[in-house]
Amino acid sequence: MQDSPIPCPSLRQAALLRRYGPPEAIRVETQLLPPRKPGLVPVQVLAAAVTVGDARIRAARAPGGLGPMLRLAFGLTGPRQPVLGMFFCGRLIEPAPGLAAGSRVMGNTGMAMGAHATHLQIDPARLRPAPESLGEAEAAALMFGGLTAADFLLDKAALRPGQSLLVNGATGEVGCAALQIARHLGLVSTAICRTENHEFARGLGASACHDYRQGPPQGRWDGILDLAGTLPYARSKALLAPGGVLMPATASLGAMLGGALRPRRGTHRITASTTDDGPKALDRLLDLHRQGAIRPVVSAPLSLDQIAQAHALCDSGHKRGSVVVVMAADDRP
Ligand SMILES: NC(=O)c1ccc[n+]([C@@H]2O[C@H](COP(=O)([O-])OP(=O)(O)OC[C@H]3O[C@@H](n4cnc5c(N)ncnc54)[C@H](OP(=O)(O)O)[C@@H]3O)[C@@H](O)[C@H]2O)c1
Repeated sequence: MQDSPIPCPSLRQAALLRRYGPPEAIRVETQLLPPRKPGLVPVQVLAAAVTVGDARIRAARAPGGLGPMLRLAFGLTGPRQPVLGMFFCGRLIEPAPGLAAGSRVMGNTGMAMGAHATHLQIDPARLRPAPESLGEAEAAALMFGGLTAADFLLDKAALRPGQSLLVNGATGEVGCAALQIARHLGLVSTAICRTENHEFARGLGASACHDYRQGPPQGRWDGILDLAGTLPYARSKALLAPGGVLMPATASLGAMLGGALRPRRGTHRITASTTDDGPKALDRLLDLHRQGAIRPVVSAPLSLDQIAQAHALCDSGHKRGSVVVVMAADDRP
């Protein structure tokens, strides 16, 4: 294990957002490395995911009624932390417990964000060795969709092998993970996305597909994972089998409160809440990856200079899998 630090420059490239706005509101600038904070270790970022969550924060756009809460949490006119980004793969600059300096790590900065830069600092407890089986873009891409899908399917819905699952919004970052985990669990999945994505969805494990432009699907499912926000309970109850569970991942404030206050509707159950994305959840996700259950789909590896394009892809609502910014080789020691 390498005990001596690897070289760390005094400057970094960072994607800065000073006021909420469109993708072009983000500017990539060179700045001094922020001062070291006690208890945190420095990491050179190799790749970072740009997620729908980042795009929501950038635009201060949240599902119905949650906008004011987003501004209270992150800042009124712009984010207090101007560097967005939570999920990354990087190289550890100094040794940390169980991790050598120079080793390839992956992690989630959580609400501290800061991953859309060539360097960040993080609590070492939030880091894990990046598996050899994943490239750096893939390691960065595994977490947002994988943690969300695992949380809904394994913890919240707890569906059994042979049961059926409808994934509404099946070929985005969370959908790609959900279809794969569902296949691993022995569920029979139906994917909702445009026809041009049906073959792709089948490759990830969907048994059947439906194009949302043709109206609602026909059938009944034991679980519905609504990633598009178009199947609130009023619309999905006719699609749920007796004892079925609705998982609204994109719920409005009203729907979240409704789900929390009245989780049972006859034989149906509604389970909506934020995802557990802590280190234990990451360990479980890495186990799922090692078992061959999940492999991230990176549709767009871009450079940090292309971060506005990355945000625009997230805003489109039609990206396949994950969008990742990969740091340029000349930013590396
Ligand atoms: N609750 C939580 O803890 C949590 C955590 C993470 C994410 N989320 C939420 O989960 C949602 C999904 O995230 P993501 O990154 O997977 O999004 P995404 O990548 O933008 O999802 C794109 C998917 O949605 C499909 N889609 C687009 N319009 C649709 C429509 N009208 N009806 C049905 N499907 C449609 C797309 O299909 P086509 O491309 O074929 O149109 C594609 O399959 C986001 O709203 C995010 O905020 C929640």
